[in-house]
Amino acid sequence: MDLGLTNKTALITGGTSGIGLAIAKRLGQEGCKVIVCGRDPSRLDQATEDLKSMGLQAHGFLADICKPDQVASLVKSAISAAGQIDIVVSNAGTHLQGSLEQISPAQLEAHLHTKVIGPWELARQVVPHMRANGGGRFIVIIGQAGKVPGANVIASAISNAAQHAFVKSLSDDVGRSNILVNAVCPSRIATPLTDTLHLFNEHHLGRSLEQQESKWGSQVPMGRFGVPDDIANAVAFMASPRASFIVGSNIDVDGGYQRSIL
Ligand SMILES: NC(=O)c1ccc[n+]([C@@H]2O[C@H](COP(=O)([O-])OP(=O)(O)OC[C@H]3O[C@@H](n4cnc5c(N)ncnc54)[C@H](OP(=O)(O)O)[C@@H]3O)[C@@H](O)[C@H]2O)c1
Repeated sequence: MDLGLTNKTALITGGTSGIGLAIAKRLGQEGCKVIVCGRDPSRLDQATEDLKSMGLQAHGFLADICKPDQVASLVKSAISAAGQIDIVVSNAGTHLQGSLEQISPAQLEAHLHTKVIGPWELARQVVPHMRANGGGRFIVIIGQAGKVPGANVIASAISNAAQHAFVKSLSDDVGRSNILVNAVCPSRIATPLTDTLHLFNEHHLGRSLEQQESKWGSQVPMGRFGVPDDIANAVAFMASPRASFIVGSNIDVDGGYQRSIL
C-alpha cells in the first residue's frame, strides 16, 4: 500500500538510536525527508551517515529536548534545512527505573523534562508552523508504564500517564487546524535501552540475564520481544493520509503485553 508520504518532511527526536532511528529509516523509505536529533555528537553523526548511506534525504542536529532554547533552534534549523515540517515524532527519552526511595526529586524532574515538558515545548514551537502550512502530524512515543503502573516503574508511570493526557488534550486543541495528534505505545522492544534494563534488573533483582529474558518473554502473549521496525511501521501508518480520521488515539505495539481495556 502506498502510504502517500512522498516529499513530506519528518522530524524525529531521539532519532539516533533504537526506535527513533528505525522510524527515521521507515519514513525515509516511504519518501520523507527526515531530520533526527539527539545529544551525543558521535551517535548523531553515525545515524545521519546511516540514513544517507541508504540514499535517504537526511539531516541531523544536536539538541537536548529538555532545553527550551535548543528545542526552538531545532525546529528553526529543521525548517531551514528541509523547507517545512509535516510530521513530528516525539520519541526522545528513556525509562527511569527504581522505587520511591531510590529516585530523587532531581531525577524525577529531569525525567519529566525529557518525557513531558520537552514534548510540550516541541509542540509549542511547531504548531504555529503547522497551522500556517494547513496542518501536520504530531506523534508521541510513550511506553507501557502509563497504563500498567507498578513497583519499580513509579517515575515512568507518572511521566507516561502525563503523556497520554497531553496527547488527548493537545489533539482536541489543534484538531480543527488539521494537526492530528496521536500516540504509539511500545513495550518489550529490543533496543539499546532494553539491553541496559536487562543488566540493571540482573543486578537489582539478583537474576541471571537468561532468567530476565525468559521472564519478560513469557509475560508477552507473543512469547518474545518486538523489534524497532514494529514501532516504525505503526508510526508510518499514523503519519500517513491513511490515518486521516484517527485523532487523540494510542496504538499499543507490545505483542499484547499491556492487558488493559483502555
Ligand atoms: N524499547 C522499549 O521497549 C520501550 C518501551 C517503552 C517506551 N519506550 C520509549 O521509546 C523511546 C525510544 O526508546 P529506545 O528503546 O529506542 O531507546 P534508545 O535506543 O536508548 O534511544 C533513545 C534516543 O533518545 C535520545 N535522547 C534521550 N534523551 C534525550 C534528550 N534529552 N534530548 C534529545 N534526545 C534524547 C537518545 O540520544 P542521546 O542519548 O544521544 O540524546 C536516543 O537517540 C523512549 O522515549 C522510550 O522511553 C521504549
